Amino acid sequence: MNGEPSSARVAVVSGGSRGIGRAIALELARRGSDLVLQYRTDAVSAHRTAAEVAALGRRVMTVAGEAGSAADAERLVRETLAGLGRIDLVVANAGSDGSGPVDAHTEASFARTLRTDLYGPFALLAAATPELRRRHGSAILIASTAGLLAATESLDHAAAKAGVLSLARSLAVTLAPEVRVNAVAPGWVVTDLTAADHRDPARREAVRRRIPLARWGRPEDVALAVAFLASDGARFVTGATLIVDGGESITWRQGRSGRGPAAPA
Ligand SMILES: NC(=O)c1ccc[n+]([C@@H]2O[C@H](COP(=O)([O-])OP(=O)(O)OC[C@H]3O[C@@H](n4cnc5c(N)ncnc54)[C@H](OP(=O)(O)O)[C@@H]3O)[C@@H](O)[C@H]2O)c1
Repeated sequence: MNGEPSSARVAVVSGGSRGIGRAIALELARRGSDLVLQYRTDAVSAHRTAAEVAALGRRVMTVAGEAGSAADAERLVRETLAGLGRIDLVVANAGSDGSGPVDAHTEASFARTLRTDLYGPFALLAAATPELRRRHGSAILIASTAGLLAATESLDHAAAKAGVLSLARSLAVTLAPEVRVNAVAPGWVVTDLTAADHRDPARREAVRRRIPLARWGRPEDVALAVAFLASDGARFVTGATLIVDGGESITWRQGRSGRGPAAPA
């Protein structure tokens, strides 16, 4: 942690060290929040992102923990309150990409995915609820368009993310009127999670063709949506799902040629 006590808003971001979580942390820091970044094992990335937040003049803490653990969620909240004094926003972002091909789904892998991707957001919000109620704060759950559509791989991940969308709606009602709860559903975003698909030229282009806005998403695209939902501009928005996928999930076919939109110049 760095800096003196302040009255700035404090945001907790799970999976805040890399990828989409890192972009969310940096966007919130630019808008004046202090940050707590939860990560699992990669301390190097967590400290690098923390240094970027600190360079924006914000206070920042990193806390290691397992997203699917209630004990770790409670410790994350305790350490945040001890270090920064308050929590105004929770972004439940940590998640996996599931078990892969359907024949790779086992009892253990399925349970692991549900634990991280579905129970994790619930555990974090449950731990933070008393403080969020006190602060009239808000929470944002990072789901996926996989939770809206049929999946042919990582069915456990898609089912978990569908559960996250349900959780956001249920918690929005349960925690109202003090706390707003919303979900963001990204489509294809370039991060470590999707690096193998993005590295493969044929796969990269096949995905791009399905996206009306004709490019893969960037972590910053998701961060801007989160920042909006966290802001006063969304003060009458709760239980909503904001889809950030360049229009992919509203398309049926990209025309008979299957060419899809042209690549941007
Ligand atoms: N990338 C996409 O195309 C895409 C699309 C839709 C939805 N999403 C969702 O967006 C979220 C972020 O994805 P991403 O692409 O940014 O992933 P990423 O680049 O792989 O980063 C994952 C982050 O979450 C942390 N993490 C992973 N598993 C964890 C666990 N069990 N406990 C605690 N922390 C954990 C990682 O910490 P360590 O570095 O310590 O491992 C890291 O900070 C996920 O929920 C994902 O399902 C991503």
